[in-house]
Amino acid sequence: MAVRFEPTHAKGESFDLPADGQMTVELQDVAFKYRGMDQPVISGINLSLNKPGLYCIVGPNGVGKSTLIKCINKLNMPSEGRVLINGWDTRELKLKDVARFIGYVPVTTMDVFSMPVIDAILLGAKSESKWKTTDNDLEKATRVMKMLGIEDLSMRGFNQLSAGQHQKVAICRGLIQDPKMLILDEPTANLDVKHQVYVTELLRGLAEDSGMIVLMISHDLNVAAKYAHEIIVMSPPGVISKTGPPEEVITEDLISDLYDIECKVTSDEGRPHVVLGSARSI
Ligand SMILES: Nc1ncnc2c1ncn2[C@@H]1O[C@H](COP(=O)(O)OP(=O)(O)OP(=O)(O)O)[C@@H](O)[C@H]1O
Ligand SMILES: [Mg+2]
Repeated sequence: MAVRFEPTHAKGESFDLPADGQMTVELQDVAFKYRGMDQPVISGINLSLNKPGLYCIVGPNGVGKSTLIKCINKLNMPSEGRVLINGWDTRELKLKDVARFIGYVPVTTMDVFSMPVIDAILLGAKSESKWKTTDNDLEKATRVMKMLGIEDLSMRGFNQLSAGQHQKVAICRGLIQDPKMLILDEPTANLDVKHQVYVTELLRGLAEDSGMIVLMISHDLNVAAKYAHEIIVMSPPGVISKTGPPEEVITEDLISDLYDIECKVTSDEGRPHVVLGSARSI
């Protein structure tokens, strides 16, 4: 049953972050149902992200990971429960207030923009000047392209890139606005192993050095286990079944139940490492 909406703040009050810039995100009993469906795809979601860190969501295909992250930045409005950003119910926030602080890198699709890479990245900038690209925007774009090692692609057409290069452009677009929180849907999916490691280390570094909350979905259990401060496990029927540091979460029992697969978990410098066996059924 839908709970009555109790505003968290008075009308006219405007949203901002505290002086230290720290964001906090809290999901309280969140459920989400797609239009026309009888049952919610995620439900009973309680989650607190109240300090900087790299948080990795893992779980099988179709369990609701992408649906969940879109509930945080208001792309999906929960059908039950609420999402609080620094104590504000997101129903009281404008989408642009949320977008000001939360960068979002969706799962990459083969976009067919023909614009140059630099322009595709600048689309993510929140310029002080509404119509013009400022020098500051250009500096930021150059900085993030350097971070991802793609400055040589800046004038290439976006539709002339490989899947991994698209992925890097999408991450640049999320980073250019200097978000306090960055949400990424499978940011390493199309990357080769070197770049998977590089990008995940970069994201961990951003969390540690810039105090950012980085929330990413990953299907690579070993990359998640190696770099995440915390793992969030989603399991059927669209619930969070466990959260915690990788060494507490990634166990043989959990992984074999979650994915219906044989596996061994060994230790690699104190971090769990999953050695996959056979799938039990499909
Ligand atoms: N726009 C939509 N309308 C209706 N159902 C949807 C929609 N988007 C997703 N779903 C359904 O919601 C469920 C959760 O989907 P979601 O994309 O959140 O899963 P996921 O955990 O991100 O999966 P994957 O690992 O494959 O990306 C799935 O059963 C999916 O078919
Ligand atoms: Mg998904």
